[in-house]
Amino acid sequence: MEKKIGFIGAGNMGSALITAACRGNDPKDVIITDYLLDKAKALADKLGCCVASDNVEVVRSAHYIMLAVKPQVLNSVIKEINPVLKECIETDKPRALVSMAAGVTIENIKKKLDIELPIIRIMPNTPVSIGKGMILLTSNNKEAVVSEKDFDQFISIMNAAGKFDRISEEDMDAANVAMGCTPAYAYMFIEALADGAVMTGLPRDKAIKYAAQAVLGAAAMVIESRHHPGILKDAVCSPGGSTIVGVAELEKHGFRSAAIQAVLGAYNKTIDLGKN
Ligand SMILES: NC(=O)c1ccc[n+]([C@@H]2O[C@H](COP(=O)([O-])OP(=O)(O)OC[C@H]3O[C@@H](n4cnc5c(N)ncnc54)[C@H](OP(=O)(O)O)[C@@H]3O)[C@@H](O)[C@H]2O)c1
Repeated sequence: MEKKIGFIGAGNMGSALITAACRGNDPKDVIITDYLLDKAKALADKLGCCVASDNVEVVRSAHYIMLAVKPQVLNSVIKEINPVLKECIETDKPRALVSMAAGVTIENIKKKLDIELPIIRIMPNTPVSIGKGMILLTSNNKEAVVSEKDFDQFISIMNAAGKFDRISEEDMDAANVAMGCTPAYAYMFIEALADGAVMTGLPRDKAIKYAAQAVLGAAAMVIESRHHPGILKDAVCSPGGSTIVGVAELEKHGFRSAAIQAVLGAYNKTIDLGKN
């Protein structure tokens, strides 16, 4: 029986998405592979999904083909699977490609293929593994190659990942940086807050738990209250209190400027990666 979804690459992002796919579907509908097959086998043992011995087998077995490899190796993977994609389509086995490669446009991918098929470009983040992630989607809509049915079906297969938002491809690189990279910065922030709390005498486990829960709650406040973060910050800073002293220290040490530069640096790198 044909699988719903197949993954080429079971690294950091691939394994997070595979975990979400297995939670939202019968894991037997999910097939995965990786350059290091043992990595794919270990994940499949944990999740109960199927393993393909190579990339070609994934293409032969599944409708949606998730390209979860680094942008630097995407070209060689597309070259490798192009003949079997062609064979599938010619024998009436529709296939859709899903790319998450930072900076790589749909047009770039289309140029590498000598067949027409739906290509969905997504930008996920790693919290998809616990259902708290977000997947941004766009497609080669102009030619209407990706139908609404393709989109709906893909979203329903990946539903356990978290939230979804359709955006234009022009916004994808900026969105990659705002969303795909932010978990790393948030982890650093939580770790640094916990370091400070340990310096004041709190045990490490409690320091990490309290910092993480506070960041989680603050993020939920931004989303649910729909207030500007500055207003929410002001509400925590009582006059003459301790929080405003902390805010002033963050400003003194360039906190906001560092965050802005992180986003700009990651954006420039994303644009470079797309030039491969
Ligand atoms: N990490 C994130 O938070 C994040 C967020 C948004 C988007 N993305 C995108 O997700 C994609 C994957 O990134 P990642 O962070 O998951 O990278 P990663 O951890 O390096 O995972 C890529 C996996 O693909 C395997 N691989 C390499 N060449 C292969 C081939 N020819 N055939 C099959 N598998 C192959 C790698 O194996 P080896 O380790 O043996 O090379 C590795 O296990 C990238 O395009 C990235 O831009 C990542």
